Amino acid sequence: MPLNREARLAHMQRAVIGIDVGGTGIKGAAVEFETGSRITSRHRVPTPHGGRPADIVAEVGAMVAAIRAELAESGHDPAADAIGVTLPGVVRQGVIHTAANIDPSWIGTDAAALLREATGSPCLVVNDADAAAYAESALGAARGLPGMTMVLTFGTGIGSGCVYDDALIPNFELGHLQLDGHEDIERYASAKAIEREGITLDEWADRAARYVRHLELLFHPDRFVLGGSISKSSDHYLPFDGVTAPVVPARFRNNAGIVGAARLANPA
Ligand code: BGC
Repeated sequence: MPLNREARLAHMQRAVIGIDVGGTGIKGAAVEFETGSRITSRHRVPTPHGGRPADIVAEVGAMVAAIRAELAESGHDPAADAIGVTLPGVVRQGVIHTAANIDPSWIGTDAAALLREATGSPCLVVNDADAAAYAESALGAARGLPGMTMVLTFGTGIGSGCVYDDALIPNFELGHLQLDGHEDIERYASAKAIEREGITLDEWADRAARYVRHLELLFHPDRFVLGGSISKSSDHYLPFDGVTAPVVPARFRNNAGIVGAARLANPA
Protein backbone atom coordinates (compact mmCIF):
# COMPACT_ATOMS: atom_id res chain seq x y z
CA MET A 1 0.00 0.00 0.00
CA PRO A 2 1.52 3.41 -0.92
CA LEU A 3 2.40 5.55 2.08
CA ASN A 4 0.63 8.88 2.55
CA ARG A 5 2.73 12.07 2.59
CA GLU A 6 3.07 12.23 6.40
CA ALA A 7 4.10 8.61 6.69
CA ARG A 8 6.62 9.03 3.84
CA LEU A 9 8.17 12.02 5.61
CA ALA A 10 8.24 10.16 8.93
CA HIS A 11 10.04 7.35 7.17
CA MET A 12 12.77 9.66 5.93
CA GLN A 13 13.29 11.73 9.09
CA ARG A 14 15.07 10.45 12.14
CA ALA A 15 13.25 12.02 15.06
CA VAL A 16 15.27 12.49 18.26
CA ILE A 17 13.95 14.00 21.49
CA GLY A 18 15.72 16.71 23.49
CA ILE A 19 14.59 18.30 26.77
CA ASP A 20 16.26 21.45 28.09
CA VAL A 21 15.85 22.04 31.81
CA GLY A 22 16.62 25.59 32.90
CA GLY A 23 16.19 27.52 36.13
CA THR A 24 12.98 29.11 34.79
CA GLY A 25 11.49 26.78 32.17
CA ILE A 26 11.62 23.21 30.86
CA LYS A 27 11.50 23.11 27.06
CA GLY A 28 11.41 20.09 24.78
CA ALA A 29 10.72 18.83 21.28
CA ALA A 30 11.56 16.13 18.79
CA VAL A 31 13.95 17.37 16.14
CA GLU A 32 15.26 15.97 12.92
CA PHE A 33 18.64 14.38 13.57
CA GLU A 34 20.36 15.60 10.40
CA THR A 35 19.27 19.25 10.52
CA GLY A 36 18.04 19.99 14.03
CA SER A 37 14.72 21.24 12.58
CA ARG A 38 11.75 20.79 14.86
CA ILE A 39 9.38 17.93 14.01
CA THR A 40 6.92 18.37 16.89
CA SER A 41 5.67 21.53 18.55
CA ARG A 42 7.87 23.12 21.20
CA HIS A 43 6.67 22.01 24.61
CA ARG A 44 7.29 24.30 27.58
CA VAL A 45 6.35 24.30 31.25
CA PRO A 46 7.71 26.46 34.09
CA THR A 47 10.44 24.79 36.16
CA PRO A 48 8.65 23.57 39.32
CA HIS A 49 9.10 25.93 42.25
CA GLY A 50 12.23 25.03 44.23
CA GLY A 51 13.66 22.97 41.33
CA ARG A 52 13.77 19.70 43.29
CA PRO A 53 14.82 16.48 41.55
CA ALA A 54 11.53 14.54 41.94
CA ASP A 55 9.43 17.47 40.64
CA ILE A 56 11.65 18.19 37.64
CA VAL A 57 11.98 14.51 36.74
CA ALA A 58 8.18 14.12 36.83
CA GLU A 59 7.74 17.12 34.47
CA VAL A 60 10.36 15.73 32.08
CA GLY A 61 8.61 12.32 32.12
CA ALA A 62 5.26 13.94 31.27
CA MET A 63 6.80 16.07 28.53
CA VAL A 64 8.52 13.10 26.90
CA ALA A 65 5.21 11.20 26.91
CA ALA A 66 3.45 14.17 25.26
CA ILE A 67 6.16 14.51 22.59
CA ARG A 68 6.02 10.78 21.87
CA ALA A 69 2.25 10.96 21.47
CA GLU A 70 2.68 13.78 18.97
CA LEU A 71 5.31 11.80 17.10
CA ALA A 72 3.15 8.68 16.98
CA GLU A 73 0.30 10.71 15.46
CA SER A 74 2.54 11.73 12.59
CA GLY A 75 3.75 8.20 11.88
CA HIS A 76 7.15 8.26 13.64
CA ASP A 77 8.41 5.44 15.82
CA PRO A 78 8.63 7.44 19.05
CA ALA A 79 10.45 4.92 21.24
CA ALA A 80 13.36 4.13 18.93
CA ASP A 81 16.05 6.38 20.36
CA ALA A 82 17.64 7.62 23.56
CA ILE A 83 16.55 10.95 25.06
CA GLY A 84 18.87 13.87 25.67
CA VAL A 85 18.19 15.98 28.77
CA THR A 86 20.06 19.09 29.87
CA LEU A 87 20.43 20.34 33.42
CA PRO A 88 21.91 23.68 34.55
CA GLY A 89 24.90 22.30 36.45
CA VAL A 90 28.12 20.33 36.11
CA VAL A 91 27.34 16.82 34.85
CA ARG A 92 29.77 13.93 34.92
CA GLN A 93 28.63 10.45 33.83
CA GLY A 94 25.00 11.34 34.46
CA VAL A 95 25.65 12.61 38.01
CA ILE A 96 25.06 16.29 38.92
CA HIS A 97 27.90 18.07 40.73
CA THR A 98 26.72 21.70 41.07
CA ALA A 99 23.31 23.37 41.30
CA ALA A 100 23.30 27.19 41.16
CA ASN A 101 19.74 27.67 39.86
CA ILE A 102 18.07 24.41 40.91
CA ASP A 103 17.69 22.79 44.32
CA PRO A 104 21.04 21.83 45.95
CA SER A 105 19.72 18.30 46.58
CA TRP A 106 20.58 17.64 42.91
CA ILE A 107 24.24 17.49 43.93
CA GLY A 108 25.32 13.84 43.94
CA THR A 109 22.09 12.73 42.24
CA ASP A 110 22.32 10.20 39.41
CA ALA A 111 20.06 12.16 37.09
CA ALA A 112 20.46 9.72 34.21
CA ALA A 113 19.10 6.85 36.34
CA LEU A 114 16.11 8.89 37.62
CA LEU A 115 15.24 10.06 34.12
CA ARG A 116 15.54 6.59 32.68
CA GLU A 117 12.99 5.41 35.20
CA ALA A 118 10.64 8.31 34.46
CA THR A 119 10.81 8.01 30.66
CA GLY A 120 11.39 4.29 30.15
CA SER A 121 14.30 5.08 27.79
CA PRO A 122 18.04 5.50 28.13
CA CYS A 123 18.75 9.17 28.87
CA LEU A 124 21.92 11.12 28.29
CA VAL A 125 22.29 14.03 30.72
CA VAL A 126 24.41 17.02 29.71
CA ASN A 127 25.02 20.56 30.94
CA ASP A 128 22.62 22.98 29.17
CA ALA A 129 25.31 25.26 27.73
CA ASP A 130 27.38 22.29 26.60
CA ALA A 131 24.37 20.98 24.69
CA ALA A 132 23.86 24.40 23.07
CA ALA A 133 27.55 24.57 22.13
CA TYR A 134 27.42 21.14 20.56
CA ALA A 135 24.33 22.03 18.51
CA GLU A 136 25.77 25.31 17.27
CA SER A 137 29.04 23.69 16.30
CA ALA A 138 27.50 20.63 14.60
CA LEU A 139 24.61 22.33 12.80
CA GLY A 140 24.37 26.00 13.70
CA ALA A 141 26.26 29.28 13.72
CA ALA A 142 29.71 27.65 14.05
CA ARG A 143 29.12 24.72 11.72
CA GLY A 144 32.27 23.71 9.86
CA LEU A 145 34.37 26.46 11.47
CA PRO A 146 37.77 25.47 12.86
CA GLY A 147 39.31 26.40 16.19
CA MET A 148 37.65 27.40 19.43
CA THR A 149 33.97 28.33 19.61
CA MET A 150 32.75 29.67 22.91
CA VAL A 151 28.97 29.54 23.32
CA LEU A 152 27.51 31.75 26.06
CA THR A 153 23.90 31.35 27.11
CA PHE A 154 22.32 34.29 28.91
CA GLY A 155 19.14 33.30 30.73
CA THR A 156 18.46 32.64 34.41
CA GLY A 157 22.23 32.14 34.78
CA ILE A 158 25.16 32.41 32.40
CA GLY A 159 26.15 29.15 30.74
CA SER A 160 29.36 28.57 28.83
CA GLY A 161 30.15 25.78 26.40
CA CYS A 162 33.40 25.29 24.57
CA VAL A 163 34.01 23.35 21.36
CA TYR A 164 37.43 22.98 19.76
CA ASP A 165 37.09 21.89 16.13
CA ASP A 166 34.40 19.24 16.63
CA ALA A 167 35.25 18.27 20.20
CA LEU A 168 33.13 19.46 23.11
CA ILE A 169 35.16 20.28 26.22
CA PRO A 170 32.51 20.00 28.94
CA ASN A 171 31.76 21.81 32.21
CA PHE A 172 33.47 25.17 31.67
CA GLU A 173 31.28 27.09 34.19
CA LEU A 174 32.50 30.57 33.26
CA GLY A 175 29.29 32.15 34.55
CA HIS A 176 30.72 32.03 38.04
CA LEU A 177 33.86 34.13 37.46
CA GLN A 178 34.62 37.06 39.74
CA LEU A 179 34.84 40.34 37.86
CA ASP A 180 34.92 44.04 38.83
CA GLY A 181 34.12 43.20 42.44
CA HIS A 182 31.20 40.92 41.55
CA GLU A 183 31.63 37.62 43.35
CA ASP A 184 29.57 35.69 40.83
CA ILE A 185 29.29 37.44 37.48
CA GLU A 186 26.07 35.64 36.49
CA ARG A 187 24.20 37.47 39.28
CA TYR A 188 25.21 40.73 37.61
CA ALA A 189 25.20 39.95 33.88
CA SER A 190 22.68 37.16 33.21
CA ALA A 191 19.45 38.07 31.41
CA LYS A 192 17.67 37.61 34.74
CA ALA A 193 19.37 40.81 36.02
CA ILE A 194 17.08 42.80 33.71
CA GLU A 195 14.03 41.60 35.64
CA ARG A 196 15.68 41.37 39.06
CA GLU A 197 17.14 44.88 38.98
CA GLY A 198 14.78 46.57 36.50
CA ILE A 199 17.66 47.57 34.17
CA THR A 200 17.19 48.25 30.43
CA LEU A 201 18.38 45.98 27.64
CA ASP A 202 21.11 48.53 26.82
CA GLU A 203 22.32 48.52 30.42
CA TRP A 204 22.37 44.74 30.37
CA ALA A 205 24.29 44.78 27.07
CA ASP A 206 27.01 46.99 28.63
CA ARG A 207 27.42 44.41 31.40
CA ALA A 208 27.47 41.51 28.95
CA ALA A 209 29.99 43.27 26.69
CA ARG A 210 32.32 43.88 29.65
CA TYR A 211 32.09 40.18 30.55
CA VAL A 212 32.72 39.01 26.97
CA ARG A 213 35.76 41.32 26.70
CA HIS A 214 37.13 39.69 29.84
CA LEU A 215 36.54 36.19 28.47
CA GLU A 216 38.33 37.17 25.27
CA LEU A 217 41.31 38.34 27.29
CA LEU A 218 41.46 35.01 29.15
CA PHE A 219 40.62 32.49 26.40
CA HIS A 220 41.02 34.10 22.95
CA PRO A 221 38.36 31.99 21.27
CA ASP A 222 37.96 32.26 17.49
CA ARG A 223 34.33 33.27 17.90
CA PHE A 224 31.57 33.72 20.45
CA VAL A 225 28.04 32.46 19.88
CA LEU A 226 25.30 33.94 22.08
CA GLY A 227 22.36 31.77 23.09
CA GLY A 228 19.75 31.67 25.83
CA SER A 229 16.58 33.71 26.14
CA ILE A 230 18.31 37.00 25.30
CA SER A 231 19.59 35.77 21.92
CA LYS A 232 16.31 36.63 20.20
CA SER A 233 16.98 40.37 20.59
CA SER A 234 20.62 40.23 19.46
CA ASP A 235 19.96 42.75 16.64
CA HIS A 236 19.44 45.31 19.36
CA TYR A 237 22.80 44.95 21.13
CA LEU A 238 25.36 43.33 18.79
CA PRO A 239 28.20 44.01 18.03
CA PHE A 240 29.72 44.33 21.50
CA ASP A 241 32.17 47.23 21.87
CA GLY A 242 35.80 46.24 22.23
CA VAL A 243 35.42 42.54 21.40
CA THR A 244 37.73 41.54 18.54
CA ALA A 245 36.42 38.04 17.77
CA PRO A 246 33.11 37.73 15.88
CA VAL A 247 30.09 37.57 18.21
CA VAL A 248 27.05 36.01 16.53
CA PRO A 249 23.63 34.85 17.76
CA ALA A 250 22.93 31.13 18.05
CA ARG A 251 21.25 29.80 14.93
CA PHE A 252 18.94 27.72 17.10
CA ARG A 253 18.43 30.65 19.52
CA ASN A 254 16.92 29.41 22.76
CA ASN A 255 16.33 25.94 21.25
CA ALA A 256 20.02 25.08 20.89
CA GLY A 257 19.98 23.07 24.15
CA ILE A 258 17.12 20.88 22.88
CA VAL A 259 18.89 20.20 19.58
CA GLY A 260 22.29 19.51 21.16
CA ALA A 261 20.92 17.18 23.85
CA ALA A 262 18.88 15.19 21.31
CA ARG A 263 21.91 14.72 19.05
CA LEU A 264 24.41 13.95 21.81
CA ALA A 265 22.11 11.21 23.11
CA ASN A 266 21.98 9.61 19.67
CA PRO A 267 25.35 9.50 17.97
CA ALA A 268 25.10 9.02 14.18
C1 BGC B 1 25.25 26.89 36.03
C2 BGC B 1 25.69 26.31 34.71
C3 BGC B 1 24.61 26.53 33.66
C4 BGC B 1 24.23 27.99 33.59
C5 BGC B 1 23.10 28.25 32.63
C6 BGC B 1 24.87 28.33 35.85
O1 BGC B 1 24.42 28.84 37.06
O2 BGC B 1 26.29 26.78 37.00
O3 BGC B 1 25.98 24.95 34.84
O4 BGC B 1 25.11 26.10 32.41
O5 BGC B 1 23.83 28.45 34.88
O6 BGC B 1 21.96 27.58 32.97
